[in-house]
Parts: sequence; C-alpha cells; structure tokens
Amino acid sequence: MKGVEARTALPSSVRTGTGPGGLTRLVVDGPDASAEVVLQGAHVTSWVPVGEDPVIWMSARSAYAPGVPLRGGVPVCFPWFGPHRVAGAPLHGFARTADWELRGAEERGGDVVLTLGLSDSEASRASAWPHRFDARLTITVGRRLVLALEVTNPGGEAITFTEAFHTYLAVADVRSATIGGLESSAYVDRLVSPDRHAPDGRPLTITGETDRIYVQPGTITVDDPAGLRVLQIGSGGAADAVVWNPWVAKSAAMGDFGDDEWIGMLCVEAGNVSAPVRLAPGESHTLTTAVEVSALV
Ligand code: BG6
Repeated sequence: MKGVEARTALPSSVRTGTGPGGLTRLVVDGPDASAEVVLQGAHVTSWVPVGEDPVIWMSARSAYAPGVPLRGGVPVCFPWFGPHRVAGAPLHGFARTADWELRGAEERGGDVVLTLGLSDSEASRASAWPHRFDARLTITVGRRLVLALEVTNPGGEAITFTEAFHTYLAVADVRSATIGGLESSAYVDRLVSPDRHAPDGRPLTITGETDRIYVQPGTITVDDPAGLRVLQIGSGGAADAVVWNPWVAKSAAMGDFGDDEWIGMLCVEAGNVSAPVRLAPGESHTLTTAVEVSALV
C-alpha cells in the first residue's frame, strides 16, 4: 500500500485501508480514542475520544482526490502558511497534499502514537521552496490529540519557513462560542490590513467572517455552550495562533464547503506565521498542538 512499508509493524489498534477517493488512510481504534489519518498530507481527519462527540470537523463537501487539499481535519501547512509570493504556488505550502510515509506506530499506555515523515523530493525541490528538509510528524491519539512537527535542516545552508496546524474544531454553534486565552495578545486582522492591533482585553466571540493572527498566545479555550463542552488548545514552539471562520459569504463561495457548515466549525491554528522559523544546517525545530475536551461546568 502506497506510503506504508511492509516492514512497518502495526499494533492491533492501527490498521491501514483505502478511504474515499482511493486515498490511503490509517484507522486508529485505541483504548482512549479513535482517529483517522490520511497519508496524503499526514492529515488527521477524525479524532473521537471515547464517550465524546467528534472533536475534529470535516466538511461533508470535502474533495478526496490525489493532490487536492481536504476541507477540514488538521491540514499541515508547511513550508509556508497562506499565499506564497511566487505566482501559482499552492496556498499553505505543499506538505498538505504531499504523500507522507508511515515511519512507525506504537501503543503507549492508553495512547496510540503514529510517526509520519516527509523529506525533500524532486517535486519539492522544483517548487517555490527548493530546499533540503526532513519533517517528522508525531500524532498521539489518546484522551488528548497531540501533534508534533519536527523539521530538521539536513542541508548545508540555512532554511526559513512558516508553518501551522490548521486545526478545524467541531463546535455545536460557533455563534454562541467564547474563545479565551487571546485577551492579552496583539493581533493582525487579515481581512483588514497587515497592521498590528493592541490586545482586545476581552474574550473573542465570532460575529462575522474572522481571520486573525494572534501573537504569543497562551493556552486557548473554546467554550461551546450549545455543545455543553470546552475545547482546550495548547501549543509549543508556536509564535502565533490563527483563528478562522469563513461565515456566510465565504462559505457560499467555496466549492468544498457547505453553505451552512460554518456554524459547526472553528479553526484554531498553532503556528509560526508572523515570523519565519530559521534553521542553520543540522538544526531542528518542533511545533506542537494539543487538543483536549472537557464538560462545560
Ligand atoms: C486560513 C487563512 O488559515 O485558511 C484563510 O487564514 C484561508 O485566509 C483559510 O481562507 C482556508 O485556506 P484554504 O486554502 O484551505 O482554503
């Protein structure tokens, strides 16, 4: 099966299969949670802790096809976030549509840990970012979903990149959600200008199309009273958090997004967006995000 070496021994909680569009996926059925990961993009498309509703949102309209970004899940944006100055370069980099390889899978207590990898290739070296790199993504499926993207520079010259976990969270109703943890963070409103705004000093609510980059946030909480739960999003090695909801008009304009689906999702994205990561030869950097669910009290 593409991307899965025969020598990769899988624990009983992990199986490989072919999903929609013929894409290879890993299906995890662990003691504490289940999950699905599509090898194209190393894309988590589902994470469901035992006893909870799904926490990761996928659009019912998502494309599933080779080389086409999925709509929802946790896209890995790398080696650039957003548009690239080179015309025609894909939004959010090539990693989210590249074929990753499974490097390992193991059970650790209640967790199932998958390791996937992507290195430079002829195609990546011909892209807008033609550098040597090795990316190792560790996905821990348990009571928490933890993603760690370790990028190493194996080449002889420094590299710079931007990156993010573009996590689509499932909420019962984004209109009544309250987002905490950003009150003291300056932010850029990408819908308006690249200017930096002073911190708001109050929790964020979503009342229209939202696309903001918050600088140096702490742990972020999404209170979802309609879903009777709180989602907590931690991060490490991340200078920024992007908060995105397309609201009415943008949803209607996207072919892979249902007209009303914006009500049930919110992207909270840990990353290095406002300032690139720079790695000297031999250096590594790790970006992490961790999602947890608790009951709203
Ligand atoms: C967000 C960006 O992170 O991703 C938005 O801030 C963008 O500007 C959105 O529209 C979705 O991107 P894409 O390429 O998956 O449609």
